[in-house]
Amino acid sequence: MPIVTFESSDGAIKKTVAAPNGGALADLCDDHEAPIPFSCRSASCATCHIEILEGAEALLPPEDEELDVLDAIDAKPPKYRLACCAKLKAGAGTVRVRAQNEY
Ligand code: FES
Repeated sequence: MPIVTFESSDGAIKKTVAAPNGGALADLCDDHEAPIPFSCRSASCATCHIEILEGAEALLPPEDEELDVLDAIDAKPPKYRLACCAKLKAGAGTVRVRAQNEY
């Protein structure tokens, strides 16, 4: 099952959780109080901008609305994603992400 570690922007807070069935990163953050900030939750503000430090291949590819926001802030997938949009594939994998904005 995917194991995901969320890190705050300064790396001081880390939370590692299991995601047995994959799914939305935002749901994992909510369920486990991960140190990733959110605002709009609908691919418009970029508050949830994250860097994928490890395991980008365990995420489904970004859809158009996420790509538009990433492009607007000059952030390129697969290294950068939006936590309100990114979804984990089901199956094995280790993912480590770091917030780009303060939690
Ligand atoms: S919370 Fe606004 S783009 Fe993700």
